[in-house]
Amino acid sequence: MKIFILFLSIFSYTLSANNLDGKKVFETYCWGCHHQTATSFGISFSEIASKRTKDEIKAYIISPKSMYKSFGYKRTVMTQFELTDKEIDSIVKYILLQKGK
Ligand code: HEC
Repeated sequence: MKIFILFLSIFSYTLSANNLDGKKVFETYCWGCHHQTATSFGISFSEIASKRTKDEIKAYIISPKSMYKSFGYKRTVMTQFELTDKEIDSIVKYILLQKGK
């Protein structure tokens, strides 16, 4: 029985980690400066999605400080976050979903 409960909790943990959605990451960390389609303090996610690749977006989120020059910015004011790989993957997916909106 104990083994079964252990198995069940590991299983549901993995499930919730896989389902972690980008919208939540967006609302928690990005919304103050980026919106989905409207320009806010930073450019909109739909604009980012239309001009950047998945890898570029990922690299920028991981380290705006090492990426801003190659993206054409004179300086960076974007927060550098401590996100997990899963959170980064889900937010990148979420940004790309805004493409063409
Ligand atoms: C404090 C405000 C702020 C927050 C919070 C913020 N950003 Fe930014 N972001 C900016 C600004 C301003 C820029 C423009 C360049 C710069 O300052 O780094 C930018 C640029 C970017 C770019 C590159 C844009 C391009 O030209 O392609 C990406 C990608 C990005 N942000 C994603 C995110 C994501 C994802 C989050 C949430 C995890 C986030 N940002 C949170 C302000 C912010």
